[in-house]
Amino acid sequence: MSNKRTNLNGRDFIVVGGAGYIGSHVCKVISEHGGRPITFDNLSTGHAHAVKWGPFENVDVRHGANLDAAFAKYPEAKIVIHLASSIEVGIGEKHPAEFYDNNVTGALALLNAMRRAEATHVVFSSTCATYGETENMPLLETEPQNPVSTYGKTKLAIEHMIQSFHTAYGLNYVTLRYFNACGADASGDIGEEHDPETHLIPLAITSALGQRGKMKIFGTNYDTPDGTCIRDYIHVSDIALAHIDTIAAFDRGLDTAEVNIGTGIGVSNLEILKTIEKISGRPLPYISAPRRAGDLSKLYADPRKAKITIGFSPKHSDLRNIIQTAWNFHSKAPRN
Ligand code: UFG
Repeated sequence: MSNKRTNLNGRDFIVVGGAGYIGSHVCKVISEHGGRPITFDNLSTGHAHAVKWGPFENVDVRHGANLDAAFAKYPEAKIVIHLASSIEVGIGEKHPAEFYDNNVTGALALLNAMRRAEATHVVFSSTCATYGETENMPLLETEPQNPVSTYGKTKLAIEHMIQSFHTAYGLNYVTLRYFNACGADASGDIGEEHDPETHLIPLAITSALGQRGKMKIFGTNYDTPDGTCIRDYIHVSDIALAHIDTIAAFDRGLDTAEVNIGTGIGVSNLEILKTIEKISGRPLPYISAPRRAGDLSKLYADPRKAKITIGFSPKHSDLRNIIQTAWNFHSKAPRN
């Protein structure tokens, strides 16, 4: 039986932020399913070496005229996947102007360019950070959205913007609220390359590789079985496949949806460190550090709506596979 979810029959898809961590994996699966991904990216955080599966347009999402010129080259592309945004939560607190400009102004410019180009569908990368503080786990899509961080607030503003564009202009959309993206493509060629890196798994792996100091674990006295925070880690290749499932759902006539993209399984920070030790065969000592502001003790998805609405369920998110693929990626020589 084929592993392919659908056949994209040579169609063009605009992937805004296609040079980034998640975007490059989305481009790869579009290509594997017979489509052509067109990357729009300004390379501010993405990498030229991660654009391998289709044309590249160097455009900033905030520049309407440049977007128009890029869209004009691909008139057949009707579905836009929007992943470009500022994502580092701490930087958002220090520089909200930059976050609102890049994320919210950028999304507005993109949606307006889509209208001019007569693109009809958008897949938007949102986040579990739009829900805010709650004890209600697993998280359902109906949970009130009260984001704590500037990052979550900008993503929620865009969710609302897209809903208004649907009502007024008929834009079809699926908003994917990702949980913790992690892992790397099985080839080891693309993976997580943030600068600065703040995420648990890449930091812990580079610690185990001896490329940085001891790992600090932020909070070891939470009300969880081992005292450390619990998150829902979803493999980036699964997140990418959720976009293929979304395209297939659009093709079946889906017009709007907001869905969680997670596994439904909570994993603690210490379980992550132990799995890295097991896979790598290297010790990974850590220091107990104070809690990080804004961290919830537990955060994991109710994944049922994604299965029902777009037919998505994860295939690559076994914790060992997540750590193995991330380890393979980070063990390779540094990229340019
Ligand atoms: N952590 C450490 N030490 C580190 C880094 C992280 O203990 O050096 C802990 C964090 O405190 C947290 C867990 O590891 O308990 C996971 O932290 P990450 O920074 O890897 O991920 P987050 O859960 O904070 O962030 C993710 C996404 C964000 C999104 C957020 C929503 O990466 O984009 O979920 O809560 F906003």
